[in-house]
Amino acid sequence: MTLETIILAAGKGTRMKSAMPKVLHKVGGKPMLQHVIDAVKKAGSSREVVVIGSGAELVMQTISGVEFVMQEEQLGTGHAVLSAEKNFEQSEGTVLILCGDTPLLTGELLQKFTAAHESSKCAATVLTAEMPDSTGYGRVIRETDGTFKKIVEEKDATEFEKKIREVNAGVYCFDVKKLFGALAKVKNDNAQGEYYLPDTLTILKEAGETVGVFTADYADETLGINSRVQLAAADRVFRMKKNHELMDAGVTIIDPNTTFIDCDVQIGQDTIIHPNTYIEGKTTIGRECDIGPDIRFTDMKVGNKVKAQFSYCHEAEICDGVTLGPYVHIRPGTTIGTDVKIGNFVEVKNSNIGKGSKLPHLQYIGDTDMGANVNVGCGTVTCNYDGKNKFRTKIGDNAFIGCNTNLVAPVSVGDGAYIGAGSTITKDVPKNNLAVARARQTNIEVWKDKRK
Ligand code: UD1
Ligand code: CA
Repeated sequence: MTLETIILAAGKGTRMKSAMPKVLHKVGGKPMLQHVIDAVKKAGSSREVVVIGSGAELVMQTISGVEFVMQEEQLGTGHAVLSAEKNFEQSEGTVLILCGDTPLLTGELLQKFTAAHESSKCAATVLTAEMPDSTGYGRVIRETDGTFKKIVEEKDATEFEKKIREVNAGVYCFDVKKLFGALAKVKNDNAQGEYYLPDTLTILKEAGETVGVFTADYADETLGINSRVQLAAADRVFRMKKNHELMDAGVTIIDPNTTFIDCDVQIGQDTIIHPNTYIEGKTTIGRECDIGPDIRFTDMKVGNKVKAQFSYCHEAEICDGVTLGPYVHIRPGTTIGTDVKIGNFVEVKNSNIGKGSKLPHLQYIGDTDMGANVNVGCGTVTCNYDGKNKFRTKIGDNAFIGCNTNLVAPVSVGDGAYIGAGSTITKDVPKNNLAVARARQTNIEVWKDKRK
């Protein structure tokens, strides 16, 4: 069976009150629309046509691997599907239609749903859910024998209909030919003056076709996001699910309520995640690490047995056995080598730090290639910027950099070299040399304070 999909993502998202298109707002660190695309692909979709309109440019810049179709004016969900009619002229069989604002749908649910539709031979099937609070959704009205009757939007519903908790999840399977036949007959004589996609179901039924209803086991998976309050609620559901998956895979999460892990993050077994921790983007973390409290990792590659607390690290690599923090900022392009100790107000940018080196207090290291087992004294600064250009600093293996050293780049310190505390190094230091670059101390033997 080939499955083709239409995803509706052209709406303004008025209720979000946002300059950004609603479907690009993120849940679990990923745009809602991307979640929907990922879910339909998992369910076996071979082709996704995304209907865009509001903020179309930005949607096309953010999302790839799908076909786009423009809905110039947003006249309703039925009208949106009609904009994609040309793209389905050659199609036969089933088309799956969903909204770009239902980010918690899973591939498993969509697979079950489409399979149920296929075996039922219905002209259309609609996915429904029992919502604890059905406010804002289209309500499902059934015949007395339990079969489908119609869907009523909240704004068109009577007080009685509003009490119905079974809602339209906005996910449908249609026989593609019958879909476009019915869409041509949809009118906009309703409270919102819009062409409603769900009206096609009633049109098909009245034409003698069978319309199936498939109810999701977990209503959470069908949450539709129209406002920022709903966005936060969906994010919360998503985060909990991700945390549970990780815990089931052998990761300890001390407080799932204060741990925020993005969808694509991977974490190895026996790693412990402490509270107030954000692990974002494409971050991967190895086994037996101890991460947090108060960590933010974004797009990081972290090895095994790393200990990190109270720090922010992004677009960089931390190798096995590193001890990091408190209060470290690791910036893009950095590799912190195996067994390095780094912490207490240290910033590292675009640098390589060799195995076993120590940066224990108050350093700025930028554009630097540092060898193994280097001891960097407190207060060391690489002066990498002359106001116009950036220059690199090179430090060899086993070097010892005394406290409060300035290394004025471009400069190189050889293997095993020593630098006296308080030096400002402007010339290369050959290997095994001691460099001292500071004023000599003068002691004046007999000295009376003239003020006394
Ligand atoms: C829609 C359904 C409702 C269902 C709910 C599920 C209709 C009329 N109502 O309501 O029965 O319970 O979803 O979440 O279908 N869109 C377009 N073009 C348009 C209008 C909307 O592409 O002209 C897109 C939006 O970007 C959005 C989706 O369609 O992704 C749904 O639109 P929205 O306005 O959120 O519909 P709801 O009021 O939530
Ligand atoms: Ca919606």
